[in-house]
Amino acid sequence: MVDLAILYDRSESDELGIRLTAEEKEIELEYIPFYKIAFGFNKNKFTFQSTGKDYSQVIKDCKVVLNRGQSKNRRIFAASIMEGLNKEVVNPLNVETICQSKIRSLLKFMEKGINIPKTVYVPCNVKEEMASGEYIDNTNTIIRLVENQLVKNIVIKPDAGTHGRSVSLAKNSEDLMKILNQLQTDITNPSGVVAQELIPKWFYDLRIIVSKEKNKKAFCEPTALVRGGFKEFRTNTFLGNMVFHVNLPENVKKQAEKCGKALANDSEAWLIALDAMPNIDSKTYVNENELKQKFTELQEPFEEVLKVKADPNKKSDFVKYSKNVEKAYLKYKSNEAYAYIQEVVSKTLHKTSDKVVFHEGNSCPEFWEQTRIIAGINVAEPLLACAKSLLDR
Ligand SMILES: Nc1ncnc2c1ncn2[C@@H]1O[C@H](COP(=O)(O)OP(=O)(O)OP(=O)(O)O)[C@@H](O)[C@H]1O
Ligand SMILES: [Mg+2]
Repeated sequence: MVDLAILYDRSESDELGIRLTAEEKEIELEYIPFYKIAFGFNKNKFTFQSTGKDYSQVIKDCKVVLNRGQSKNRRIFAASIMEGLNKEVVNPLNVETICQSKIRSLLKFMEKGINIPKTVYVPCNVKEEMASGEYIDNTNTIIRLVENQLVKNIVIKPDAGTHGRSVSLAKNSEDLMKILNQLQTDITNPSGVVAQELIPKWFYDLRIIVSKEKNKKAFCEPTALVRGGFKEFRTNTFLGNMVFHVNLPENVKKQAEKCGKALANDSEAWLIALDAMPNIDSKTYVNENELKQKFTELQEPFEEVLKVKADPNKKSDFVKYSKNVEKAYLKYKSNEAYAYIQEVVSKTLHKTSDKVVFHEGNSCPEFWEQTRIIAGINVAEPLLACAKSLLDR
């Protein structure tokens, strides 16, 4: 009988990393698939089967489930089902539900007095379908409503989006009109329009890990992953931006712990990766051209890392792949240009630490490559610790 299980639809580096870390720590971890399976339920009984295997007993036996479903919506189904079957889940359903929506998360931050970007939500859709099948165009009304509250440089984003997809910057009303006209109402943007002031974060943002084990206090990892570049205002790594690390100022750690608690309510154990931005008004800290030059110098070593990451056989020899990618990142990290940029980040963050703005929490963060190697945090460790802490009833 195994107490802990990991659930996922697709196994990526992170899921393999969790399994590898569990093995190293001699923690037994069952696997529950969550894609091509059928969950059948009736009064007092359930079955959980793939086409080739019955997982019902595995689920009956386990007590805690690590939910690593890929999409936010699938994770919400998984958490609902597992909690419905009386399992403890990391993260719990209520954390998933809050983190699914940027608006819901920001409201939780607001309640706790945390610095957030000024945000405007307009419930009405750009194109409104009438009973007759005709469409009303609400673009101009939405522009008026948004511009009454936010002046130029407005960020429009899908409420439940990820990877920076469809996060757009409107520098003026014309841009705003174009962006609104391309806006789709779909699963990541279920209703209305989310608009936000552009935070002058200069060239970087932060990914901060906070977690809580049962019967312990919330804990913020002292180092954060920095994502940065001058390509455009979005600094997601998914868009090819570079990564650095920074030691967090004390007050930022305190704020991050507050954010985690705000998103998790009274849940006993959870792990959240917070997205935060520095708020740097002045660009006088360093010569920007020199800084850009350092980014250019780092481009080649960074591309070397990306080549290693693209290894098509990574899953078949994951241990070897992990060693290779570690080596590549450490080589990238040993560059003088890395040290230069890292220093700029550290100095500016410490100078503006009371103005850091938090804007969302990610309940199933990627970590195996960047966060683990660059920031030195193997998120699998706190995740497994959270899961284990729930076994003490
Ligand atoms: N209000 C803002 N001001 C400045 N930059 C912003 C703002 N909102 C988002 N960004 C930038 O755009 C990028 C994507 O934003 P956001 O995190 O909201 O989207 P996402 O789809 O959730 O991305 P991810 O999955 O990577 O977290 C981030 O790198 C962030 O730096
Ligand atoms: Mg984000």
